[in-house]
Amino acid sequence: MAKEIYKPKKFQLSGLKGISDKTLEMHFKLYEGYVKETNGLEERLAEFVKDGRVDQDEMPAYSELTRRLGFEFNGMVLHEYYFGNLRKGGGGDPERGSVFRQAVEQTFPSYEVWKADLVGIAKMRGVGWAVCYQDPATRRISNHWITLHEVGNVAGFNPLLVLDVWEHAFLLDYAPAERPKYIESFFANVDWAAVDDRLRRGGSARRDAA
Ligand SMILES: [Fe+2]
Repeated sequence: MAKEIYKPKKFQLSGLKGISDKTLEMHFKLYEGYVKETNGLEERLAEFVKDGRVDQDEMPAYSELTRRLGFEFNGMVLHEYYFGNLRKGGGGDPERGSVFRQAVEQTFPSYEVWKADLVGIAKMRGVGWAVCYQDPATRRISNHWITLHEVGNVAGFNPLLVLDVWEHAFLLDYAPAERPKYIESFFANVDWAAVDDRLRRGGSARRDAA
């Protein structure tokens, strides 16, 4: 079976508003660490199942590596969504009539209420992510909190807008208590065209991203 080796994607993001190049450089390195760990774990796990079974003796190590894979893999993928929905010159609000705005307005009373909901989630105490998804089954939009990288992802939902609220995403630019300022900066750089694209293309948007 062909082995999937993940390669770090490259993102051209220098010159964002309120999120420094220094933060981004550090953040890209961190992301590359997730890619490396994911590849390493997949390789080690493949060794366990080479003979088609996992022995009783192997089970504790196999279980631990499998759990870690959930953390590392989601760490890799969520960062790709996050960097992929930012761009220099982005920000503002999505255009009236854009596919994303229409989808939001079909679920929420207004775009403003949707935004207040996502911002509220992003301010939640704890380490994790605020993510706006579409449910492909109902086409409804919903915002969710993800603890760490792997607790709270919604199976089968399509991530549209992903916001990293781990402190490493903003500590070089803001104090820990200034997360709301960082969230404002995030919105000042959102690539709404990328969000529209994810909505139009569903899961295949990840395959072809950056
Ligand atoms: Fe991050």
